[in-house]
Amino acid sequence: MRSRYDLFINGISVPGSGEPFTTSNPATGEVLAEVARATPADVDKAVLAADAAKRGWERTKASERGRILLNLAAAIRANADTLAELETLDNGQALGQARGDIETAARYFEYYGGAADKLHGETIPLGPDYLSYTTHEPYGVVAFVLPWNAPMQQAARGLGPALATGNVAVIKPAEDTPLTTLELARLATEVGVPPGVLNVVTGFGNEAGAALTQHPLVRKIAFTGSVDTGSLIMRTASERLIPLTLELGGKSANIVFSDADLDAVARSSWTAFTVKSGQVCSAGTRLLVQSSVYDELLDRLVQRAESATLGPGIDNPDVGPLATRAQFEKVTGYLKLGIEEGARVAVGGGVPADPALRAGNFVEPTIFADVDNSMRIAQEEIFGPVLCVIRFDDEDEAIRLANDTPYGLAAGVWTSDLSRAHRVAGSLEAGQVFVNEYFAGGVETPFGGFKSSGFGREKGFEALRYYSQLKTVTVRISEPQG
Ligand code: NAI
Ligand code: MG
Repeated sequence: MRSRYDLFINGISVPGSGEPFTTSNPATGEVLAEVARATPADVDKAVLAADAAKRGWERTKASERGRILLNLAAAIRANADTLAELETLDNGQALGQARGDIETAARYFEYYGGAADKLHGETIPLGPDYLSYTTHEPYGVVAFVLPWNAPMQQAARGLGPALATGNVAVIKPAEDTPLTTLELARLATEVGVPPGVLNVVTGFGNEAGAALTQHPLVRKIAFTGSVDTGSLIMRTASERLIPLTLELGGKSANIVFSDADLDAVARSSWTAFTVKSGQVCSAGTRLLVQSSVYDELLDRLVQRAESATLGPGIDNPDVGPLATRAQFEKVTGYLKLGIEEGARVAVGGGVPADPALRAGNFVEPTIFADVDNSMRIAQEEIFGPVLCVIRFDDEDEAIRLANDTPYGLAAGVWTSDLSRAHRVAGSLEAGQVFVNEYFAGGVETPFGGFKSSGFGREKGFEALRYYSQLKTVTVRISEPQG
C-alpha cells in the first residue's frame, strides 16, 4: 500500500486541488493513507479528459474493446491477493469475502468483454423499397457515484457494460473506500484502456459528487447508495434530462415455508444477513418463517450466531467491522430502537466485549425475534448484521408481509413445493427472487429494484441496454412500385 493516493485523470495520477483527506482501517481506526480531494475544478478536468477520449473509444472496434476488457479481467486475477488485501483494509470485510469480490470484478470484465461484439441491432421489415435497421450507440461520458460496501465489485459492475458499449467514465468512489477503485483504473490503463476512458475523482459527495453529477458534459449517471442521495441526484438528472440508473438498497424478505430444507435455510439465511456485516443492498434482513418451524429455525440461527467469529477482516473472521464510523453509529442506534419497539433480542444486541475490538466498528451479529413487520427495524434499511425474524401462518400472509415495505430489491423463497415457489415468486414485488438459495445467481443475472429500491438494471446482458441508446435508420432504397 502507498501512503498517498492521487486522482486518476487521463491515464495518470495527479494531485487534487483540495486539502488531502485520509482513509482509515475500520477494524482499528488507524489511518491507512492520504487521499487526494477533488474540487469541482478537478472534476471538470476529469470530465473534459473523458469527453476528449470519447470519439476514439467509441470508434474502436467492439471486438477490440472486448479484448482490452478481457485483459483487464486477467490483470485483476493476477493481482487478486493485493487487491483483496487492500479492499479488506479499507472497507473492513473479511478477506475471503474481499477475495470473492475481486474475482467477481474479474468476472464482470470477462463477461462484458465477451459481450462487447454481441450487442447488435435489428432490421425492420418495411417492404422492398426501404431498409430500416437499429444500432446501439454509447451515451458518451457516464458519471458513476459509488458507495463503500463493495467498492471494487460495484465499480466493475458499472464499468463492464459502460466501457463494452463504447462509453467513457468518471467514477467518484465513496470517500471512505477509494483505494481499490484507483488501483483498478491504474491496471486498466496498463492493459490498454486508453487515457481518458476511465477517470477516478476521489473526494466528498457534496463537493466532487455534486460537481460530477451536475457537469454539463455528463450524459448518463449511475448511482448506488442511499435513497436520500439517490433522490437528490435524480433532481439533478431531471434538470439536465439525462438518464439515470439508481440502485438504492432494500429490506428484503427471505420467506421460509414449513416444507423447506431447514439445514439449507439455516446456512443460507445466516449468510444472507451477515455477509459484509450485513452491508449489502440485497441482504436478506427480514426472515419470514411459517409458524410450525419458527422456533426450530430460530434456535439454529442463534446457535450459528453464538459460534460466529468477529474480528479484523484481515484475519478472515465470519463477521468483520462495519465500514464506517457513521454506519456503526447508525446500526447501534437501530439495536437500541429494536428493544424500545418491543422486539426480543434472541442473540447479540450490542458491541462485542473483547477490548481488542473496541477501537473498530464492530457490532455483534444480532437476531431480533417476535418482530412485527410494522416496526421501524422491519421497515428501514439498517445495513448491518441485524436480522428481523417474523412469523406467518399461510402463503397469503407471507406475500402480504414480504411486500409491505417501501423497498423491492430482492426476496428469497424456501419450499419444496414447485408450484408454490413459482406462484410466490410471481407475487413478490422485488427485482430478483431467489428460490432455495439466497443470493443465487451471478454476474449473468440482471439486477435492480422495484419501488424505492431504484430503477434501471445492472448485471447480465440487460445492463448493456442501460448504457446504450437505440438509433433507428430508415432508408428509401427504391421508388415505390405501382
Ligand atoms: P450515500 O448515498 O450518501 O453515499 C453514496 C455515495 O454518494 C458516496 O460516494 C457519496 O460520496 C456520494 N454522495 C453523497 N452525497 C452526494 C451528493 N450530494 N451528490 C453526489 N454524490 C453524493 O450513502 P451513505 O450516507 O454513505 O450511507 C447511508 C445509508 O445508505 C446506509 O446506511 C445504507 O442504508 C444506504 N446505502 C445503500 C447502499 C446500496 O448498496 N444500495 C450502499 C451504501 C449505502
Ligand atoms: Mg476506509
